[in-house]
Amino acid sequence: MKDIMDVIMHRRAIRRFETRQINEDTLQDILNAGLYAPSAGGRQSVIFAVCQDKEVNTRLGKIKRSNSHPHMATANNYVSKEQPSIADDPKITNAFYDAPTVITLFAPKNFLFSAEDCAIAAENMMLAADSLGVGSCYIGQGWTAFADPYGQEILRKWKIRTDYYAVMQLLLGYPRENDPHPTPKPRKDGRILRF
Ligand SMILES: Cc1cc2nc3c(=O)[nH]c(=O)nc-3n(C[C@H](O)[C@H](O)[C@H](O)COP(=O)(O)O)c2cc1C
Repeated sequence: MKDIMDVIMHRRAIRRFETRQINEDTLQDILNAGLYAPSAGGRQSVIFAVCQDKEVNTRLGKIKRSNSHPHMATANNYVSKEQPSIADDPKITNAFYDAPTVITLFAPKNFLFSAEDCAIAAENMMLAADSLGVGSCYIGQGWTAFADPYGQEILRKWKIRTDYYAVMQLLLGYPRENDPHPTPKPRKDGRILRF
């Protein structure tokens, strides 16, 4: 494992993946990193639904895409030059960018800290992924992938509790070999206040 600061500095959102699936032991390590993340009250309520079925991931990614209308990109302001997001490019039709592994993090609907619990588990997993040579991308508003009859059918097929909701997705896959690793944007000044 690389030094933790090296991993934090190196991790970037990856949205272009090799088609080959990630190694099973590597996936287990990444999932363990999620299981061992902090959770509010130590409740460990986050459920990690790992889907490696290409057809299901593509359909859910397209449903999510049709439910997302981001208008964030301008001529000088884009999410990423190297790894364009659906916010940059309306031609991207799959909000999961054809990632070979899509993990949906579900958490209770009526719990104040569901979003934080999922986000912190996801960050643990993204750092573990980077240290293991796997690219990852955090996808917010996970419920929009299930917001049609096919998505609802998948929730039933996966036996997701009806008092849980999809907080977010974590995409995993090997970054494309010939892609340059994305460069982080410069950090904005004035965000640290010291007293
Ligand atoms: C709460 C949250 C939601 C995000 N949702 C998306 C998303 O829906 N689609 C996407 O491509 N990236 C998404 N991202 C990834 C960000 O775009 C990315 O982290 C940001 O552009 C900074 O790039 P970096 O991760 O390479 O530093 C999300 C990140 C966060 C923290």
